[in-house]
Amino acid sequence: MPLYSRIFYLATEFRQIVRNCLTLSLGIVLSLSGTGLAAQELNFEYFKNEVQPVFLAKREGNVRCIQCHTRSSNFRLQPLEEGRLFWTDEQSRANFESASQFAVAGSAPLSNRFLTHPLATSVGGDAFHGGGAHFHSTFDPEWRIMADWVAGASKRREPSAVPVRIIQTNAAADNSSVIDPVTNKVIATIDDIEIPHGVVGAPDGSQLYITNEAMHSLDIVDSRTLRVKRRIPLSGRPNNVAVMGDGSKVYVGIMEMPGSVDIIDVASMTNVKTLPVNGAIHNVYVTPDSRYAVAGSIHTSTINVIDTQSDELAWTLEMSSGVRPMTFDTNPDGSTSNIFVQLSGFHGFAVVDFASQQEVARIEHPAVAGQEAHYDGLQGAPAHGLGVSPDGKTLWSTSKVYSTVYIHSLPDLEEIAQVYVGQHPEWVTFTPDNKTAYIGAAGDHVTYAVDVATMKTVARIPVGQVPKRVATVRMAVD
Ligand code: HEC
Repeated sequence: MPLYSRIFYLATEFRQIVRNCLTLSLGIVLSLSGTGLAAQELNFEYFKNEVQPVFLAKREGNVRCIQCHTRSSNFRLQPLEEGRLFWTDEQSRANFESASQFAVAGSAPLSNRFLTHPLATSVGGDAFHGGGAHFHSTFDPEWRIMADWVAGASKRREPSAVPVRIIQTNAAADNSSVIDPVTNKVIATIDDIEIPHGVVGAPDGSQLYITNEAMHSLDIVDSRTLRVKRRIPLSGRPNNVAVMGDGSKVYVGIMEMPGSVDIIDVASMTNVKTLPVNGAIHNVYVTPDSRYAVAGSIHTSTINVIDTQSDELAWTLEMSSGVRPMTFDTNPDGSTSNIFVQLSGFHGFAVVDFASQQEVARIEHPAVAGQEAHYDGLQGAPAHGLGVSPDGKTLWSTSKVYSTVYIHSLPDLEEIAQVYVGQHPEWVTFTPDNKTAYIGAAGDHVTYAVDVATMKTVARIPVGQVPKRVATVRMAVD
């Protein structure tokens, strides 16, 4: 070999060595920070619960991995049988074995075909993938889930922050809007859930629970990827949803006669019980002390109170007409004092004393001066949307007839303000610091932000089609 080509060869070799070292150190930084692990083994449970959802998720402009990989290439995913929403353990094991062929535990991420094939070429991905580029950065939260698996992770990395977010479900859309309550802007959307009904967040901020009316499932959405992580089959078409204060269980109202509430165990991500109740269920809540779940039926006008320790029906109360939204206030010890309840055909709300299990008062909302009354498209509920402010001092009730929220003092229930909040206001939630109320105005495709102290509108936030349920959650970020 002539001297010049020898020098060239050595220089190329040297460049290669430097590149390998850089990739390796990048790999260590990427893979091990946060997971607290340096395992040299690919973990099955992590693969099953965290990596596999990536193969089912819809990314905009991409085809789901599973659409191709039940047939193309040596990376083989098991087909899902008709109607199944996730793989069995045995199928997951087969997927694990297949993916493991393209991953070496603890190695540099960019030396694994499993990670480089779906990654954009410009950020270290392979030159070609028959399935295209799915990830455009090595900081993409889904790609990181996969990279952490290759690094040997057995659990998700710790989040860098868990900020408060407002989730507005859009009842006539295939998405929900994520609002930052600091800027009052939509910062993201959660896609791939048609007719999202209710939403609640896991108290630790790891995930959200959204009821999917189109697929009859409870969809678990990963807070960091914003992708559907798991769809849990329900016993029928769902309406609203509630979560225990400790995050352990989720209650889903099933809007089909004769009526039931599905109970989801969060740790195992399974529907563990379909509890028969009186009437098809519209809304279900967990009381502030998490002692009871309260489920209301429009069909039978019944409030069903479920003991959350035994998950059996504790008591029921029949109202004069269909049970619509409810909310609660508390005694000094945190136990439930009253249920406030809106009713079919009634422009106002009733008060049910929790201890005596009796209706004790009824407040009817007056006409609003200068506002024309609307009766079109009320769907039987002139007043729909109730909430108690976090400081416990006010009760907010929204009216579709007058496009208004009526604010009452607590506990004396004197009306103290009326605020215009757009066409067909449907639901209300508050930031935990008691600063802002958010109200979904279904007719305007807008979420209203109202300052709680001054009772003035501070923002009109454009969201998706027909925004109804709106919830306050915490959401982890990487
Ligand atoms: C549109 C179809 C399609 C989609 C979607 C798709 N792939 Fe592929 N994939 C292919 C084809 C075809 C090949 C084989 C040709 C090649 O190497 O690119 C392949 C190859 C691979 C390989 C290399 C396997 C081998 O035999 O060397 C991996 C790993 C892979 N894909 C992972 C993924 C992941 C992960 C996703 C989802 C994030 C995905 N693919 C989405 C079509 C697809």
